[in-house]
Amino acid sequence: MRVLVTGGAGYIGSHTLLELMGQGHEVCVLDSYINSSKEVLNRVRTLSNGHLTDHEGDVRHTAALDRAMDDFAPDAVIHFAGLKAVGESEEDPLGYYDVNVGGTLGLLKAMDRVGCGKIIFSSSATVYGEPVYLPYDEAHPTQPTSVYGRTKLMAENVLTDWAKANPQKTAVLLRYFNPVGSHPSAQIGEDPSDIPNNLMPFIAQVAVGKRSHLSIFGDDYDTPDGTGQRDYIHVVDLARAHVMALDYAASHQGARPFNIGTGQNYSVKEMVSAFEKACGKQIPTKVTPRRAGDIASMLADASRAKAEIGWSATHTLDDMTASTWAWQSTNPNGYD
Ligand code: NAD
Ligand code: UD1
Repeated sequence: MRVLVTGGAGYIGSHTLLELMGQGHEVCVLDSYINSSKEVLNRVRTLSNGHLTDHEGDVRHTAALDRAMDDFAPDAVIHFAGLKAVGESEEDPLGYYDVNVGGTLGLLKAMDRVGCGKIIFSSSATVYGEPVYLPYDEAHPTQPTSVYGRTKLMAENVLTDWAKANPQKTAVLLRYFNPVGSHPSAQIGEDPSDIPNNLMPFIAQVAVGKRSHLSIFGDDYDTPDGTGQRDYIHVVDLARAHVMALDYAASHQGARPFNIGTGQNYSVKEMVSAFEKACGKQIPTKVTPRRAGDIASMLADASRAKAEIGWSATHTLDDMTASTWAWQSTNPNGYD
């Protein structure tokens, strides 16, 4: 298939490019590089030994979208391009709605213009909000607690209505749990441009000496060791889910959400211990008050993805920590 990948130079996008190219798909990237480096695509080309075209452009700009659609004529789109920092979304809600919702609207219009009717969308487990029950299944109520989460839910609604209005269209809504880890080559990985918001890249930066210690955001949650639990998923498993979702989209119509997680969760303290094992060093920690908006536990019921897409996670926690350490220790400054 010919697959246009918006945001393909980002963390999850770059891993997905390798999986797509490995399966023989023809790939074109559209990225503004607002949160990524062009060096990523050089590395993807080297690792895949394959042909990869790219367009620099913003998904909010009609001309950039039209150029990519006309030049590449995709059969399907994977839409990663978006903004993802929860705190920033509270300070700049219009910016987040503009990119995450407006960008999706513009993309669908550009797809309609060239008759491309299949899209895989990067959604998030954050659309569920405070758990009514765990594990979350796809029928769990969606009550996101942040602006970021609401932009993702709104984009899901746009995609669902778009697919409903035309029975030939397909929108696969992948609700990611917590992506971590790196490609086994250690050539591509997560490269936060600022102080990491998320746990795993923060631990990795402590291990490599860039930060003095990890702040554990609360140890008084109602969990076995008091620290927050998350369903961490290896980014290569997540990347594979997109390739399998494309196969699903080839033979299904309509919009459908899928949880992409492992069905197992780990606490902050368990993640620190696992990382210490991977890097052979002690990770200094300090317990601080809870982070606003955090919940105690998240856990995926990923049985729908297994039953309908044939996807399930195969990587272990050790794979996640070892690959993160391999990437961080060989690229202490990311792609710089
Ligand atoms: P990332 O920031 O590494 O990648 C996003 C890419 O999109 C970057 O290359 C960035 O330059 C590009 N981009 C941003 N705005 C753009 C615009 N207006 N036009 C064109 N390109 C633009 O993030 P990621 O972790 O790879 O996440 C990819 C997607 O998955 C995002 O939509 C994110 O919301 C979603 N998601 C991520 C996580 C996570 O924890 N990483 C969890 C759930 C969902
Ligand atoms: C965060 C976002 C969520 C987003 C997800 C993936 C918030 C409130 N939520 O979720 O919307 O979908 O990232 O991008 O920002 N932790 C520490 N110290 C740290 C960092 C994290 O103790 O320095 C703890 C957190 O309290 C949490 C766990 O580690 O218990 C995981 O945190 P994180 O990686 O930020 O993911 P989420 O909280 O799931």
